[in-house]
Amino acid sequence: MRNSVHMLLAVERSFVQAALGFGFKLKENNYFWATNWKKEIMRNEESQILENLKASLDSNRFIKFSLGDYKGHDSNLKKLYVKRVTIKQKEMLSFVFRHKTQDITKNYDFAEAIKLLDEMIGFKGFRFGLLCTLDFDEQMQVFKSRIALKRKPPSLKQLPPKAHDKSKNRKIEAKGKRYLHELGITDPFGKVYKKSQDKYRQINHYIEILSTLLKDLPLREMTNIVDMGAGKGYLTFALYDYLNNVLKMPTRVVGVEFRKNLVDLCNNIAQKSDFQDLYFEEGTIEKYEFKHDANVLIALHACDTATDEAIYKGITGQADLIVVAPCCHHQIRAEIEKNKVKNELDFLLRHGIFLERQAEMVTDGIRALILEYYGYSTKVFQFVSDAHTPKNVLVVGKKLKEPKADQTDILNKIQEIKKYFGIRYHHLEVLLGLTEQMG
Ligand SMILES: C[S@@+](CC[C@H](N)C(=O)[O-])C[C@H]1O[C@@H](n2cnc3c(N)ncnc32)[C@H](O)[C@@H]1O
Repeated sequence: MRNSVHMLLAVERSFVQAALGFGFKLKENNYFWATNWKKEIMRNEESQILENLKASLDSNRFIKFSLGDYKGHDSNLKKLYVKRVTIKQKEMLSFVFRHKTQDITKNYDFAEAIKLLDEMIGFKGFRFGLLCTLDFDEQMQVFKSRIALKRKPPSLKQLPPKAHDKSKNRKIEAKGKRYLHELGITDPFGKVYKKSQDKYRQINHYIEILSTLLKDLPLREMTNIVDMGAGKGYLTFALYDYLNNVLKMPTRVVGVEFRKNLVDLCNNIAQKSDFQDLYFEEGTIEKYEFKHDANVLIALHACDTATDEAIYKGITGQADLIVVAPCCHHQIRAEIEKNKVKNELDFLLRHGIFLERQAEMVTDGIRALILEYYGYSTKVFQFVSDAHTPKNVLVVGKKLKEPKADQTDILNKIQEIKKYFGIRYHHLEVLLGLTEQMG
């Protein structure tokens, strides 16, 4: 009996090897169902391209690896580009994860990188890949039950220059920036303090996102940006610097903040930095009146209804772009909590953490709908990892030249949502006088 099973396995093994011509090894004493064959074939082919990648790294013949046709769980992820870099004298692979709205770069040592690629390639992951080496190009296509590899002559003949230290890719260089020193991020020579590394990275990340969003703005002689609830102005300074000094795009930036000490501090630093079109105004978002035609309005982490006040100013001031990172959603949370509507979701809302998350989603969801009502296209996305801060959702509204949204539909939808969650009013809707129209 044992012998006949072995014979059967031997026949299966030679059949698979011959049929596929890939020469992979089946483990002795294993029984393979057809589905297991498929998995094993897939793993071997997938391992093969990663083996080839590894070999090309070892022999210094690796040029690049690109992956696409992503079908995994991250609906914003589109492509992945892998290149070799040297960071602090260590050989690493740099991954650029291309999302719908942004690129996220992460560096890994070779072993980590191969492990991650192994996890990300598959029918429910990246289905297409292209490995370029000095010796060959290898194309990978993932099908439901197999992965096909195809070799071609090399399309590239030279190794790319190795990218060095990551800091060179920063939008805001640390050296020679007076404001970064005055804000306590760098020493006088432009070296980022250890304790400020996170802040410095965060500033660059914000600038990266905002610069992408600002790219599609209608051209004007002078871009006017108002940053509502500017705080200590880390972002306000960096944005001004990036647009005026890096992109050479004439931009006036105003920071609005009700804490006088911060306003004085920031104005002082702006003066020392010779940033002539950057100034900070003491006062509330609610009472702020535009001196110029503001085409961009930003409000990052303005608490609770201060975000609504900022969006209100943006909509009524006809801003082309409105970018807010809301924080604290007390107003809607209190409404949901108070009215305790009985529905399919009430079992969730007994728990504080779910109530908080629900309030956050409903508040920002209605904000997006209201922006659409006023002719903006909207995007809501996570812009920094949860590991850094839970306040990591960005709501972006871009004014459309020809709005298509059906306003009546939107008002009806908002009305339904409010009823479902037991919300009497949303602060932004009141500011804009929409409550009466909803009846
Ligand atoms: C959490 S801080 C964020 C600062 C900055 N935007 C950032 O992201 O680094 C919020 C700031 O907004 C200010 N602020 C909150 N509500 C405001 C209002 N209604 N009018 C003016 N400033 C406000 C606060 O004083 C605080 O400095």
